[in-house]
Amino acid sequence: MINDSFHYQAGSLWGDGVALDTIAEAVGTPAYVYSATRLLNNVHRLQTAFAPLSPDIHYSIKANGNLALLRLLKDAGLGMDAVSAGEIYRAQQAGVDPAHIVYAGVGKTRTEIAYALAAGVGWFNVESHAELQLLNTLAGETGQTAQVALRLNPGIQAQTHHHIATGHFGAKFGMTPDIIQDILAHRADYAHLHIAGLHIHIGSQLGDVRETVEAVRAAQALAAPYADMRTLNIGGGFPVHYTASDEYPPPEAFATALVPALDGWQLMIEPGRSIVADAGMLLVSVLYIKEQGGQRFVISDGSMTELIRPALYDAIHPVIPVRVSDQAANHEAKPAIVVGPVCESSDVLHRGALLPPLVAGDRLAVMVAGAYGMVMASNYNMRPRPPEVLVEGDTWRVIRRRETWQDVLQFEM
Ligand SMILES: Cc1ncc(COP(=O)(O)O)c(C=O)c1O
Repeated sequence: MINDSFHYQAGSLWGDGVALDTIAEAVGTPAYVYSATRLLNNVHRLQTAFAPLSPDIHYSIKANGNLALLRLLKDAGLGMDAVSAGEIYRAQQAGVDPAHIVYAGVGKTRTEIAYALAAGVGWFNVESHAELQLLNTLAGETGQTAQVALRLNPGIQAQTHHHIATGHFGAKFGMTPDIIQDILAHRADYAHLHIAGLHIHIGSQLGDVRETVEAVRAAQALAAPYADMRTLNIGGGFPVHYTASDEYPPPEAFATALVPALDGWQLMIEPGRSIVADAGMLLVSVLYIKEQGGQRFVISDGSMTELIRPALYDAIHPVIPVRVSDQAANHEAKPAIVVGPVCESSDVLHRGALLPPLVAGDRLAVMVAGAYGMVMASNYNMRPRPPEVLVEGDTWRVIRRRETWQDVLQFEM
């Protein structure tokens, strides 16, 4: 999907002020390319939409944790949402003040909790009774008081892919209302905790605002008897448009529904995808064209090891040519299946791409790939992970170099 940052100029695709061909020639393909401008515009859009509630925004590192991106987001005033002690460490390396980190996760280990306490993270989003007790014990041992938001599983089925729905009973996340009620009634038992808020995250890429409002209402009902519990962290989940025909509510629709509902509450949000997805794309090159069985396979050097979302979630990432100078060729666009070299039938980047005639060496752009792309990249088939490049206006720099075979083997004895 084309946007203000990734756009065609004189027949070739640019990222802001840099031709993507220039980057490909310098670093090779496959390569991730991010636009700093788009990233920060997405932040600004959320800040503006929710401005009446002055929300604390914590960027969800899991969506894309590259240090250079974290630094940009920290400088834009964002805190960080971490789901492991490793992500806390990553945020610290980016210069983030641990007080501005919220720590979530259904399976925090004793070591991780101890690390987070020592670092001084701002909030622990606690997901079980047992975790709460362990946190209380560990905080007591170090003479600390940990600030806690209890993660509610409201039993609400979000409208999204079943792999990324998290708020229904049956999901491993959060605690059911009866458990939360019980904990709140016994808050005084946790001498080393300040249980000050509730946390809900019912899923990612949410198709409707109604379930979020419903979840907020459920959380508010639980917190209502406790006047000092007026912080509500609603997680992430703001959807992005992957294709031109996608119809998802914009962040403004969530804000319109939530602002009146949250009057008098301190709102926290943890967006990941909506900040970074359309600020990134994966640049690949055509290796071979194979026409058989009535299909046109475009075999690219990019694969499921760089971008697993199509294989994992049936996600659709538009694939577009980097050069469109030949208008006649574009009129001849025909369906193609864009695949990678990995030995799996599921190694498909896009099944229904409409692409002009292509030859080996042509470059393609796999769009809206900034979120849950590089973070899920693997070395399967002994494929070194790709470089990441950041475009800032009309300059660009490598923010993670391409791995080598030696890098991949370095931990093996
Ligand atoms: C607890 C929590 N917060 C925030 C997020 C980020 O969600 P998104 O990328 O949809 O904004 C996730 C994603 O899974 C999550 O589990």
